[in-house]
Amino acid sequence: MDAIVNQVKENHINQFGQVAQVYRSPGRINIIGEHTDYNDGFVLPGAIDRYVYVGISKRSDKTIKLYSVNFEETIVSAIDRLEVQSAQWASYVLGVCQLMAKELPHGFEMTIYGDIPVGAGLSSSAALESAIGYGLNELFDLKYNRMQLAKIGQQCEHQFIGVRCGIMDQFASLHGIENKVMKLDCRSLDYTYFPLELGAYEFVLLNTKVSHSLASTAYNDRRAQCESAVARLQVRYPHVQSLRDASVEMLNDAVPDQKEQSYIKARFVIEEIQRVSMVCDFLQAGNLEAVGKEMYATHQGLKEMYQVSCEELDYLVDAVQDFPEVLGARMMGGGFGGCTLNLVKTSFVDEMIAKVSAGYQTTFGIALESYVVRLSHGTAPVS
Ligand code: GLA
Repeated sequence: MDAIVNQVKENHINQFGQVAQVYRSPGRINIIGEHTDYNDGFVLPGAIDRYVYVGISKRSDKTIKLYSVNFEETIVSAIDRLEVQSAQWASYVLGVCQLMAKELPHGFEMTIYGDIPVGAGLSSSAALESAIGYGLNELFDLKYNRMQLAKIGQQCEHQFIGVRCGIMDQFASLHGIENKVMKLDCRSLDYTYFPLELGAYEFVLLNTKVSHSLASTAYNDRRAQCESAVARLQVRYPHVQSLRDASVEMLNDAVPDQKEQSYIKARFVIEEIQRVSMVCDFLQAGNLEAVGKEMYATHQGLKEMYQVSCEELDYLVDAVQDFPEVLGARMMGGGFGGCTLNLVKTSFVDEMIAKVSAGYQTTFGIALESYVVRLSHGTAPVS
């Protein structure tokens, strides 16, 4: 058995004296399609080989006991009195429980461990929500399907964490398949798997190791700006339900002042939705140069139009832009920190990391971290 699974089981026995069933759920990358999910657009994520593990055992009463290996903290709560906790990791658990509470027949003990870097834009929180939802669903035989569990995780963010996120992260964590990315239509929730065949190239993550505060407020603000653009569009085009239904021409018509923030934000989203379809075609045709160009275009848009980048992310994208072995780079996820995603020639990966790390250390005094991405399987039992 996996050493991490053993560690979770041992911790569970030490904390609670019970044998745990262990489940794990992965983090995710997103090739393209940023801030498109809550606009009913498309995204192209894949699950990665970094996980949150939860070990669970049933209790016969209504008590919930939680232990975080990473934080070395224990929290006790009652199923009928679940409250937001000052320890955020516990709020995720109790939030998911609250959303499932009517169906939970008993309490439980849960041990949690994760090796997804927190705040790196790799969706450690969605992985946590997905692992908890999946584990409780299995243990108590609640009969939710994976998409319903993704929606529970998303609702947990909305109601208990205060981030009005889209469905991408929880979807990706729950639906991943090895070596495949998923094109998800965030309106119909239909999805297709694509093999990721990169030949002499691979995706590498460079972690800024910063996560600027106020990111959740800024995220909700962006979502509100998109909604206000939709309201403007609806005046002229009543059928428009979301930015998915709009073209740049329609936006020009409905919001003639192109300096307005709702114009700029909406224009980014409309263009980004188009980029997802283009990148899928380029990937299928094996045209990685074209994929890379769109990644750079996304970064430019996220930086200048959507304004969710930061100087550390911009530094890392600028630093690789002139290497011919790097086909594309961009910030990934919600923004204001976390990782850049880089499409790099395999033979150049070490050299790129060494070169960029030295400059990053000198400029920001931070030791860069990097990860080569392997696409992995979604949420599953592991013991
Ligand atoms: C965060 C959210 C997602 C998505 C991305 C941006 O990761 O949780 O729903 O909106 O930001 O693409």
